[in-house]
Amino acid sequence: MIIGVYDSGLGGLSVWRELRRRIGAHLIYFGDTAHLPYGDKSPEQLEEYFRASLAFFQSRGCHAVVVACNTTSSVVLPRLRHELPLPVVGMIEGAVQAAAAVSRGCLGVLATRATAASGIYQQALQEGLPGTKVLMQAAPELVPLVEAGQVAGAGVKQVLARYLEPLLDGGIDSVLLGCTHYSFLLEPIKELVGAGVQVIDPAPAVAHKVEASWAVPSLQDGTTEFWVSAQPQKFKATAERILGELLPTVKLAKLRGEDR
Ligand code: DGL
Repeated sequence: MIIGVYDSGLGGLSVWRELRRRIGAHLIYFGDTAHLPYGDKSPEQLEEYFRASLAFFQSRGCHAVVVACNTTSSVVLPRLRHELPLPVVGMIEGAVQAAAAVSRGCLGVLATRATAASGIYQQALQEGLPGTKVLMQAAPELVPLVEAGQVAGAGVKQVLARYLEPLLDGGIDSVLLGCTHYSFLLEPIKELVGAGVQVIDPAPAVAHKVEASWAVPSLQDGTTEFWVSAQPQKFKATAERILGELLPTVKLAKLRGEDR
């Protein structure tokens, strides 16, 4: 089985590393780095990027796709649900399950502007965790930090503190990382919120959902191809830095309608 893993850039690697731990499928990671960041794009643009990426995954022989991007999962998947050419698992369901296991009544959600504006998390959390107070915080400066390889240090903490303050003031008992890039900021976020607030990274729950949804081989010897739509060397160098491991060559993908 060949599974595509999709994100705007590095964020989906947080889901990829969980998938790799659990399943033996051949994985094709695609980061749409030419269009980063997704959080500032319109629903129409996001849909266009996702359709072109699906065509790419199909051209590489993928049997299914993991949308390791909350923004596309929130804004595009509900619109395309009935016309997807491949089986798809997105982020929202796994994230809500992960939150339900932890939250005690007041949950903060950090997400991109587009995810926050979609209202999907607010709705899904009300359904999955009835009675829970949900405080949504858009955090547009975080994706550029992760893409620049800045995942620790005083500057990063300063930016994070600004986004976390309204959530902490609101009395949250847990905070959901509603963008896959934020998993790489897990440590500074944990330090800032303190031991009394649980930080929920949905990546393991999403990988579990993939394992449960599709007949994927469970052997742990799967391989991954890495593709991006721009700047493959930059992606590889930063990915290796934030993952702490070496990756194979990252290739430049030609997307439908683009002449490179
Ligand atoms: N990592 C993606 C998400 O989970 C997209 C972030 C972006 O490109 O703005 O939302």
